[in-house]
Amino acid sequence: MSLRLDGKNALITGGASGIGRATAIRFAQEGANVCVADRQAAAAETVAAEVRKLGRKACAVTVDVSNPAQVQAMVDGAARELGGIDIVLAAAGVSAANYGEGQIQPKFLNELPFEEWRKVLSINLDGVFLTCQAVARKMIEQGRGGRIIAISSGAAKIPLKGSGDYCVSKAGVWMLMKVMALELGRYGITANAIGPGVIDTPMTKDIQASRQLERMIRRTPVGRIGRPEDVANTALFLASEEGSYFSGSILHPDGGVIMQ
Ligand SMILES: NC(=O)c1ccc[n+]([C@@H]2O[C@H](COP(=O)([O-])OP(=O)(O)OC[C@H]3O[C@@H](n4cnc5c(N)ncnc54)[C@H](O)[C@@H]3O)[C@@H](O)[C@H]2O)c1
Repeated sequence: MSLRLDGKNALITGGASGIGRATAIRFAQEGANVCVADRQAAAAETVAAEVRKLGRKACAVTVDVSNPAQVQAMVDGAARELGGIDIVLAAAGVSAANYGEGQIQPKFLNELPFEEWRKVLSINLDGVFLTCQAVARKMIEQGRGGRIIAISSGAAKIPLKGSGDYCVSKAGVWMLMKVMALELGRYGITANAIGPGVIDTPMTKDIQASRQLERMIRRTPVGRIGRPEDVANTALFLASEEGSYFSGSILHPDGGVIMQ
C-alpha cells in the first residue's frame, strides 16, 4: 500500500511540541519529509531526529513566527533543505495558559493591557499570516499546487470569558484561511483551518491540573479530552489526496464539544 504523503515536503511551525510535534511524526510515518520550525531550538532538533529515524529527510529551524525576516528565512531554508514545500501546518501559538509563565491568567478585555493583546495577536495571527503568505509565494513559484493548514481553535466560534485576545486571534486565523482559499485556488493550493477542542499538550497542562478538567470531560460526548494525534490525523487528512476537495473549511477534532 502506498503512503499517503509519499515524497511530499512539509513545513511545520510549532513543530517542537504538542500538536505540531505529533503532526511532524504522523506526516513522516506517511512518507513526508519535514522541516520542524519552532522558537525552542533544541526541542525542534529532537523532533527532526525522530523524523529522520523514520527514514525521511528532516531539518530544524529556530524561528519567532512574529518576525517577518525570520519567517522568510525559515521558508527559504525549508525549501532549500527539502527541495520545495508542498504542505505547511502553521501550529505555533500561545494562549493565556502558557503565555502567563505557566499560570492561567485570564483577563477580561476591559483589563487587558495593549502589550498583552499585541503579543498574542502577533504570534497567533500575524505569525500565521506571515508563514502562510511566504509559503504561498513559494508554492506559486514552484507551480505544483500545495496545502495550507492552520491551527485555529474551537475558540474561533465560541467566545470565552477572559481569553478575548486568543478567541479573536483564532477567529482571524479561520477567516485568513477562507480568504486564502478563495485567492489561491487558481494555483491548485487549498487552505483550511483546524479548530481543536481541548487537547492534552503542554499548553493545557494548567487546565488539566485544575478542577476544570472534570467539567470539560463531562461536557464531551466522546468522554475524554483530545490527544495530539487526533489533531495530527485531521491535518493528515487535509494534506492527503483524500482531503483534496476541502478548501476554506474548519474541521473540529473536539469529541463533540463545539456543536453545543
Ligand atoms: N492544546 C489545545 O487544547 C489547543 C486547542 C485548540 C487550539 N490549539 C492551538 O494548537 C496550536 C499548538 O498548540 P499546542 O497545544 O500543541 O501547544 P504547545 O505549547 O505544546 O506548542 C506550541 C508550540 O509553538 C511554539 N511557539 C510559540 N510561540 C512561538 C513563536 N513566536 N515562534 C515560533 N514558535 C512558537 C512553542 O515553542 C511550542 O513548541 C496552537 O496554535 C494552539 O493555540 C491548542
